[in-house]
Amino acid sequence: MILVTGGAGFIGTHACVELMQAGYEVVVVDNLVNSHEKSLDRVAMITGKRPLFFKVDVCDEKALNQVFDQCDIEGVIHFAGLKAVGESVQKPLEYYQNNLDADFVLCKVMKAHGVKNLVFSSSATVYSGDNEMPLNESSKTGNCTNPYGWTKYMGEQIFKGLCVADPELSIVLLRYFNPVGAHESGLIGEDPQGIPNNLMPYVSQVAIGKRDHLTVFGDDYDTPDGTGVRDYIHVVDLAKAHVLAVRYAAEHKGCEIFNIGTGNGSSVLDMVHAFEKASGKKVPYVVGPRRAGDLATVYAGTEKARKELGFVAQYDLERMCADSWRWQSMNPNGFEN
Ligand code: NAD
Ligand code: UFG
Repeated sequence: MILVTGGAGFIGTHACVELMQAGYEVVVVDNLVNSHEKSLDRVAMITGKRPLFFKVDVCDEKALNQVFDQCDIEGVIHFAGLKAVGESVQKPLEYYQNNLDADFVLCKVMKAHGVKNLVFSSSATVYSGDNEMPLNESSKTGNCTNPYGWTKYMGEQIFKGLCVADPELSIVLLRYFNPVGAHESGLIGEDPQGIPNNLMPYVSQVAIGKRDHLTVFGDDYDTPDGTGVRDYIHVVDLAKAHVLAVRYAAEHKGCEIFNIGTGNGSSVLDMVHAFEKASGKKVPYVVGPRRAGDLATVYAGTEKARKELGFVAQYDLERMCADSWRWQSMNPNGFEN
């Protein structure tokens, strides 16, 4: 059985679907601080089975121990964490405490139960801003611009250190680029609370009429159209990478890092145009100033993931936008009603 922490969230629900469809039994632990339990009913509608669920805070050692006592856990995927970059600047203590405590407690409880295999949600945000593109796994890390990024950077250091201390451990650190899209069923997808921080959920809320217009954060970057370039990856591709990582962890020992992206960069305006095409709706925008901390261009080197993990992203921008739009238009208020 695979334990999925944060399994009720955006990426977690998609990972549950892919794991279950690959034949794994899944148990989800989530405190629902940024998700709805209903998302797991939707997972059940897709897979025919609801994952076992415990509403537990990963930082609660006693409660997490009880989950491990009750379930025969062979490996863990650790998604649980707070992820809003701007909020982390306002509430650094909450971010350090929640994200790092979750890492510590999870590792302690895994150790107590002899569980050796872990896949961790890291981020391209751990890369330093002064690298050449594409980023590869040995590009420079650090110089994070916000507490959220530091929690991922520190998480990586903790997991690397644990693997040095215990050669029987197997930890896969996945550095995600920009996950977007939704399951093709339209039943699960990203359900941001309040004003979306990220481009794609913002664009889809403009398309559905919830927000007037998008603000493009700067059009004077050194990129083909002047707007920021990122490596957007379909969340279902990303979820599939987790199934490969779980298998990889079962067969290899030590700590291994993989970028999970497509290797392609798309600009903000590329995304706006692709979304307009997929939805048939206009996405009005205005150009505003640059957002602090943003880089001009970020995209992944994908060779290592292809060669060693066997991962190649399948879905293109058109599909990412079509699936986002299906989710958005079938669920204008997310999981709420
Ligand atoms: P999400 O907020 O939808 O999912 C995270 C889940 O963790 C939520 O369901 C939340 O309720 C839960 N959670 C948070 N703290 C918890 C705790 N202490 N105990 C139990 N549950 C807790 O976010 P997501 O987009 O699905 O991201 C999943 C992981 O991937 C996160 O660690 C995030 O930092 C990382 N990541 C996300 C992105 C992205 O752009 N979405 C990019 C890089 C990395
Ligand atoms: N953007 C806008 N307007 C918006 C939102 C975003 O123009 O309203 C632009 C940004 O300036 C950037 C691009 O759209 O050029 C993408 O921005 P996102 O906020 O969607 O994504 P980021 O690349 O800034 O960061 C995201 C996550 C991080 C994660 C990183 C991994 O928020 O947590 O991807 O690469 F670490």
